[in-house]
Amino acid sequence: MSTNNTMNSPTPSLVVHSDSESKTVEIGKAIGNSMTAGSLIGLNGTLGAGKTRLTQGIGESLGIVHGQIVSPTFTICVPHEGRIPFLHLDAYRIRTPEEVDELGLDEMLENGVSLIVEWVDLIKTLLPDVDLEIQIEAPTHDSRDFLFFANTDNGKQMLDALETKNLDQS
Ligand SMILES: Nc1ncnc2c1ncn2[C@@H]1O[C@H](COP(=O)(O)OP(=O)(O)O)[C@@H](O)[C@H]1O
Ligand SMILES: [Mg+2]
Repeated sequence: MSTNNTMNSPTPSLVVHSDSESKTVEIGKAIGNSMTAGSLIGLNGTLGAGKTRLTQGIGESLGIVHGQIVSPTFTICVPHEGRIPFLHLDAYRIRTPEEVDELGLDEMLENGVSLIVEWVDLIKTLLPDVDLEIQIEAPTHDSRDFLFFANTDNGKQMLDALETKNLDQS
């Protein structure tokens, strides 16, 4: 299912395996608990990989009721007022750079709003540095691999916090 060009793929700093949707939500919660305000987290992976499920877990750990986080594919973005406010953005239907400009993402980040962006690769050139990138692969129908890449000091700190949670053992 992966479309990654392995020749150009950097090595992930952390790989976490999920064998169920509920485990994916747990992984999301751990990410949310490690997330700092004003962070940019990018998710990549094909349709149905689990980007939205993971975001539901992140939201849950920040105090958002599970059912409130829905796929923002058609709305492009949905703001949430959690312990850390965050914007859930789906880049899939963004067609022009102006659409990204109009969102005022830089200002949000500066104001301590975190961004969680599905399909981040599609708009990466228009964004500030993505702190933490998560590539989701689906080796089987029910299993997922989460490959974590930290691109900034903030991303590395979040990843360090995540690593202490021993996600593969839970
Ligand atoms: N281990 C798993 N983790 C997450 N989702 C899973 C898993 N196994 C099966 N699924 C299914 O994969 C789909 C993921 O959907 P979703 O999170 O909306 O994907 P995306 O946002 O990447 O398009 C759901 O239908 C879910 O039931
Ligand atoms: Mg989605």
